[in-house]
Amino acid sequence: QAATAIHVESTLALIKPDAIENANEIEDIILRSGFTILQKRKVYLSPELCSDIYATHYGKIFFPSLTAFMSSGPIIAMVIARNQAVAYWRELIGPANSVKAKETHPGSIRAIYGTDHLRNAVHGSENSSAAKREIQLIFPNTTIDQRASAQDAITY
Ligand code: TYD
Repeated sequence: QAATAIHVESTLALIKPDAIENANEIEDIILRSGFTILQKRKVYLSPELCSDIYATHYGKIFFPSLTAFMSSGPIIAMVIARNQAVAYWRELIGPANSVKAKETHPGSIRAIYGTDHLRNAVHGSENSSAAKREIQLIFPNTTIDQRASAQDAITY
């Protein structure tokens, strides 16, 4: 019987301040979708850390409201892993604008738990290099070894 190598990767999932009361339900969705939660922290992000996380949006009209919103209350930060974690988590959360998500992706997390383009319940890293950068910002004590283990190819 031939073994199949499955590439497991990690991504960053954030439950934003507007969805903190739905954190348990969102975690259930994550687990039912085949992810392993490798790390989990409840944190208050400083505006400075929010600016770092969203540095690529610096200078845009929504940047000040984004950093104010993200630092307005506690969030749940999770490192989650499965095969194709980055793409699969992005698909589960749906489009950034929750108003549009409710029309086009009604089953998505942002459609169910979000309100508008700013208050959209969850974050997912855009690609794997962004995931590594963002995980390092929120989980600075994550060792290379821990991260590597989630990114190794597992043989079944
Ligand atoms: P973006 O990277 O476009 O979306 P995603 O979160 O899916 O990667 O935008 C980052 C965040 O910025 C988004 O989750 C919410 C906020 N935002 C606004 O508030 N208004 C906007 O017009 C856009 C484009 C984003």
